[in-house]
Amino acid sequence: MTRVHRTRTTVGIVGAGPAGLMLSHLLHRAGIDSIAVDNRTRTEIEQTVRAGILEADSVRLLVDTGVSDRVLREGHAHDGIELRFGGVGHRIDFKGLVGESAWLYPQTDVFMDLAASRERDGADVRFGVTDTHVEDVLGDRPRICFTDSSGAEQVVECDYLVGADGSRSMCRQEIPEEQRRHFSREYPFAWFGILCEAPRSAPELVYAHSDRGFALISQRSETLQRMYFQCDPDEDVDAWSDDRIWEELQARVSGPDGFSLEEGPITDRTVLRFRSFVCEPMRHGNMLLAGDAAHTVPPTGAKGLNLALADVKVLAEVLEQAVRTGDKDVLDTYSPRAQSRVWKAQHFSYWMTSMLHAVPGATDFDRRRQLGELAMVTGSEAGSRFLAEAYTGWPEGASLRA
Ligand code: DHB
Repeated sequence: MTRVHRTRTTVGIVGAGPAGLMLSHLLHRAGIDSIAVDNRTRTEIEQTVRAGILEADSVRLLVDTGVSDRVLREGHAHDGIELRFGGVGHRIDFKGLVGESAWLYPQTDVFMDLAASRERDGADVRFGVTDTHVEDVLGDRPRICFTDSSGAEQVVECDYLVGADGSRSMCRQEIPEEQRRHFSREYPFAWFGILCEAPRSAPELVYAHSDRGFALISQRSETLQRMYFQCDPDEDVDAWSDDRIWEELQARVSGPDGFSLEEGPITDRTVLRFRSFVCEPMRHGNMLLAGDAAHTVPPTGAKGLNLALADVKVLAEVLEQAVRTGDKDVLDTYSPRAQSRVWKAQHFSYWMTSMLHAVPGATDFDRRRQLGELAMVTGSEAGSRFLAEAYTGWPEGASLRA
C-alpha cells in the first residue's frame, strides 16, 4: 500500500504563479504559514513569455514588502505611451497627467523574484506536482491532494484554501454551478506575439490603430523587443516567415511622420487567444479564488498580472483578519472588495481593445467612430487623463519617484 504523506498548514494555495507566491509571501510577513503547489515546474513557468507592464502599485508591492528591488534597477519607468492612428503618433503623458509611471518589467521576472524570495524565506512551495485535486472546501479541513515531483502521494490539510490556479482553474469548478455566475465576452481576433533581436524602435510603447488591424510595439531590453499584431484566432504561426511578419508590422505603424520599426531575427512567435471573463463570487466556504482563476482580461493595457497582485493584497488582509479573530464572516468582504477593481480593469481592457482593433465586419461608420474616439482621448486632457489613470493603476499611495 502506498503511504500518503499528510501535512497541515493554515493556508493551502493551489497555483504557485505570481498570485500564489505573492499571497504566500504576504501571509508569511503576517506570521501565517502556507503551502503552495503547482502542476508546472519552476523552469516551465520561467520559460513562458508573458506581458511586461507593471502598475506603480504592483512595483510598490514588490519593493515595499521586500520581495526584491530588482525592478527598480532593471525595470524601466515609462512616463507615457504613444497612441498611433491615421499613421500619426500621439503621446499620452502619464507623468504630466497623473504623476505616475508604468514600469516595463516582464511578468516572468516578477515570478523569478517571488520564487527566489520564497526560497530565501524557507517557504514550502511544491512545483511539478501531478494529479492535483481539492476536497471538502466547505468543511473545516479543506485538503489539497496531489502526487509530488518524487512520486509520493501528498495531502495538505488547511484551514483556508486558495485557488490561484489560472484561467483554467480547477478550484473554480468546486463552486456548484447554481451558486456561480460567469460573465464573459469573446473577441473575433487574437494577437500574434513575437520576440526579436533588435534595438528599440521607440522610447516608449506604441499602440497602433490601422486599417490592417492593431499592432503593439513593446520592449524587453536594449537588444530584445516584444511586438504583437492583431491576427485571426486560428492563425497558423508557421505560415509567417520573418519577412512576412516585418512587412505586416511595418505596414501597421507606417505613416506620414515616417516612423518605422528596427528589424532583427525573430526568436519566438505565438498566437495568443484571449477573452474577458469574470466568475462571481470569489469565495465558496473556506475556498477563495484569486487572479486568473476568477477573472481574465484581454491583453491590451496589460492588466492581468496587476489585477492578480491587487487581489492577493486584499486577500492577505482578509485572511489575516480571519486567522487572528477566528471569525470567518470576514471572508465575505473579499469578493466585493476585489471585484470593484476587477470590473474597472475589465472595462479598461475591453475599452482599449475595442478602440484599437479592426473588428471583422466593421462598417465605415464603425471605423470613423473609432477614429473619433481616439481623437477625443488624445485631443482632450480629460480623455488622456482617463487613460493615464487607468493604465498606471487607479490612484493609491505615493509616487515612486520624485
Ligand atoms: C506588453 C503586453 C501588453 O498586453 C501591453 O498592453 C503592453 C506590453 C508586453 O508584453 O510587453
